[in-house]
Amino acid sequence: MIVAIDGPAAAGKGTLARRIAKELNFAYLDTGLLYRATGMKVLHLGGDPEDAVIAEQAARSIDPETFNDPALRTDAAASAASKVSAIPAVRSALLDFQKSFAATPGGSYQGAVLDGRDIGTVVCPNAPAKLFITASMEVRAERRFKELQERGVESIYARVLQDMKERDERDSSRSAAPLTAADDALVLDTSDMTADDVFAKALSYIAEKRD
Ligand code: CDP
Repeated sequence: MIVAIDGPAAAGKGTLARRIAKELNFAYLDTGLLYRATGMKVLHLGGDPEDAVIAEQAARSIDPETFNDPALRTDAAASAASKVSAIPAVRSALLDFQKSFAATPGGSYQGAVLDGRDIGTVVCPNAPAKLFITASMEVRAERRFKELQERGVESIYARVLQDMKERDERDSSRSAAPLTAADDALVLDTSDMTADDVFAKALSYIAEKRD
């Protein structure tokens, strides 16, 4: 069983995906990390994240062992990620890893949950359960701002909002796998929902799709 979760930045995809994975004993892949790692690799090499040649090389050499690096959680990494992710060669370099994770999550897992921007549309178009998690721009910026504060990262709300707007605009307008809900996805606007509400709705939807 594959659960595909997509949506814009800071909509709560990661929190939801982790809870579903734990509850159902599914393996979890945060696909944003692949793009973040690629973007950071380019920056470390002193390259431009919009340079297709360097970005593709970086995508082919990322190491899942480094996915815990806190540097990948920064806004610099997010912004570089959204630039490399618009390059078709980068997306195709990362596609096999994601597809094989979904098909063979390994261990004793009963299935896989992947979250990102194009899981339901490109990576796992046949996933039986697809969720598109969204919320208003202001709510999402506030959630990200709070998350940064809790992690002790100094930030300015207006800047967080601006960065998010730019990133969403880039992710939605690119021609390679743009951010969009699959036709058969359950769309949840979580602006006025608690994390528990979202979790409960998602679980009952998945249970329905599992039968
Ligand atoms: O955590 P947040 O939602 O802010 O970002 P993320 O999921 O870690 O993704 C970072 C960036 O990677 C996004 O802004 C997208 O540009 C890109 N991405 C993508 O293109 N396709 C995916 N499946 C996942 C992320």
